[in-house]
Formats: sequence, C-alpha cells, structure tokens
Amino acid sequence: MSGTSLDGLDIALCDFDTNGVPSLLAATTTPLPKDLAQQLARLSQIQRLASNQPQCVTNDNVHLQAVADRQFAEFSASAVNQFIWAQQQAGVIHTDSIITAIGSHGQTIRHWPTGDTPYTVQIGCPSTLAALTGIDVIADFRQKDIALGGQGAPLAPAFHRAVFAQAQHTIGVLNIGGIANLTLLAADSTLGFDTGPGNCLLDSWFVRHHPESAQQYDADGQFAQQGEVVPALLESLLADPFFSLTGPKSTGREYFNLAWLDAWLQQHPASLSHTDVQRTLLELSARTVVMEIQRLGIQHCYVCGGGVHNTALMQRISELAIAQASCQVHSTEVLGVAPDWVEALAFAWLAWSFVQRRPSSLASVTGASRDAVLGGLFPAA
Ligand SMILES: Nc1ncnc2c1ncn2[C@@H]1O[C@H](COP(=O)(O)OP(=O)(O)OP(=O)(O)O)[C@@H](O)[C@H]1O
Ligand SMILES: [Mg+2]
Repeated sequence: MSGTSLDGLDIALCDFDTNGVPSLLAATTTPLPKDLAQQLARLSQIQRLASNQPQCVTNDNVHLQAVADRQFAEFSASAVNQFIWAQQQAGVIHTDSIITAIGSHGQTIRHWPTGDTPYTVQIGCPSTLAALTGIDVIADFRQKDIALGGQGAPLAPAFHRAVFAQAQHTIGVLNIGGIANLTLLAADSTLGFDTGPGNCLLDSWFVRHHPESAQQYDADGQFAQQGEVVPALLESLLADPFFSLTGPKSTGREYFNLAWLDAWLQQHPASLSHTDVQRTLLELSARTVVMEIQRLGIQHCYVCGGGVHNTALMQRISELAIAQASCQVHSTEVLGVAPDWVEALAFAWLAWSFVQRRPSSLASVTGASRDAVLGGLFPAA
C-alpha cells in the first residue's frame, strides 16, 4: 500500500484463516525515493481555474506517466524482494515458502469519481511487479467498482467490517492518511466515506515552509501548536461543498492541495502567520472528522493511519469527539491491530478475497450498483 501521503510503501506479510481473518507476520515501510515521490506528486497535480472548479491539465504527459508506472513497479518489486529476504533471514518464513499473492494498490495519481466519465488511476505496472518478484500480483482493485457506478473508494470499510465489527456494539474506524476516511460498523449495516483532508494539507503546508526538513511532516504537530486557529479562515475552509455532502463520497490530493488552500487564503489578509495557518488546518482535519462522528452517532472510534502519531491532531480529535459526540477515541491497537498496518492489511485481504473469488466491495459504501469481486490477476508465470 502506498497512499496519498507519498511517504512510502507499506508492506505487510499476512496469513489468513479460512474466514479471511489475517495474522500479521511482519511489516515494514520502505520510503519512496525523493525523485520518484516528486514525479508522482507532479503527475497528481491539477490546474485550478478561477471558477474554483478543478480541471485536468490539458498537456498531461503520457510518457511521464508510463515511465512513472514502470519505475514505481520496479521500486515496489525491489522493496518486496528485500523484505522477503529479510523475513527469511529472521526465520519468519522458510526460504521455500510460497507466497500466494501480492495485493498491490499502486499509487493513485488521479481520482475522479464524479463527472460524465468517472475514473481513477493507480500506477505501478502489476506485470512488472509479478515478473520481478516471481509472485502472482492482484491489482486494479478500484476499477470494477467504478464500472458499477461506484466511487471506487474507500475500499477499506469491507476489511474493517471483516476484522473489527462487534456483534453488540456500533463502532467507528477512522483512518487518517493523506485523506481521512471513516467507517461506521453497526450490527446490520456498514457505511464509509472520505471525510476530507487528514494529513495532506498539514504535510504540504509544513513542507512549503520547511523545504529542507528531512521529515516531510509536522512531527507531533509541533509547528501547529505554535499557532492559533484563525476562525474566519476555518469558517471559509469548512464552507467547501465537499464537507456538506453526505456519502458515498471520496476525494484525493488532486482536490485538497495547496492550490485549494491558496484560493481560500487569497480572501484573507496576507498577515496570517504560517503557524496559525498550520493550526487552522489541523483544526479543519479534526472538525471535519468529528462532524461525521457526531452525525453518525458513533460512541467509540478506533483510529489508524499515520495521523495517529500526530499527538496534537489526536488530542484535538479526542477533545472534540467527547465534547460534541460523547465519543471515546482509541487506537486500533486496543483491538489488536497496529494502526500503521491496517491499510496494508486491507489490501492483503482484498487480494485474499480475490483468490477466494469473494465479493470485497460494499455497494452501501461506494454507491455501486452491487458488491463485487475486486481486482485482476497478473500471474508471475
Ligand atoms: N510523528 C508524526 N507526527 C505527525 N504526523 C505524522 C507522524 N508520523 C506520521 N505522520 C503522518 O502520517 C502520514 C503517513 O500516514 P499514512 O502512511 O497512513 O498515509 P497515506 O500513505 O496517505 O495512507 P492512506 O492513503 O493509505 O491512508 C505522514 O505523511 C504524516 O503526515
Ligand atoms: Mg503511507
């Protein structure tokens, strides 16, 4: 799994029981090489017109995309091969163990689920990955759901239901990646949708003002904590129509990016301090998540994704969730799954579901006409 943050490739080695319940044997994150990450970020960019309607750049370069497709696959294959070698050395797996499949999400460079012809683009050539690892690859998980009229996202709620659902209690699962997504797991129904920006705006604003920083994020929210929320800016950002839509809805960094923020900032005095903007962005992520927790009546919410490490963000989400929704916020760790690996486990589970030919999408989440078996097989042979 490599998400919208473009921070690295998460690799999880999993074993499944016959019901599809995973055991995590080992996991790692391999950072994306900086030049590849920059290239992928460039491919994800969209020109924004004065009307505030994002439009695709007309001179998108097919060549650059094709090169990035193969380079991301080569990077993924090398990371997987190194990981497997390390697990063999550590005795986690035998040298003659056969790995059934790699579930590969690929890197999203464009997610455009609405409009006349909805589409979503993940790159990371699965045939290259299969050829260079010698392992069957299951990929292209989002396309079938789009073909059936769905958003193609989020896909993790079905996995959340498989591993976290509790017979007696309604719970929420919140993933804070570049984009944040919330899943409601009730006894008889599952809902899920993107709430908006998780870390993506925090990362982008931090990097803009710390271009030399080795780490590409505001560690523990320290930069944000030096500032104050700017109420007028927060109000403008919250007025974005995405936040008042109810699900199914999904979004990406082609929408929530610095161009989006700059358009709003232009309406405010130029004197806003960088830390005040960072603090306001943190408040935006926290408030948009808690608005949905409140709307869905969630009383226990379990959080995963890299945002769980942003202590300032987690503290703000917890405070607002208690105050506005009487909701307790926990890490998924308390349910036995480390928050850093939930998304990677989800894509291993999607691959397992494909191998079993079991439907793994939830039409109630994505808005598709039906649940479906997701993914395609790219054999190593
Ligand atoms: N110590 C930390 N302090 C603040 N933020 C952190 C910290 N550690 C991780 N993060 C945030 O987590 C992000 C990475 O999270 P994650 O890998 O879950 O996102 P992602 O790759 O976009 O995933 P996905 O799209 O699958 O949800 C980083 O970009 C950063 O914003
Ligand atoms: Mg990541």
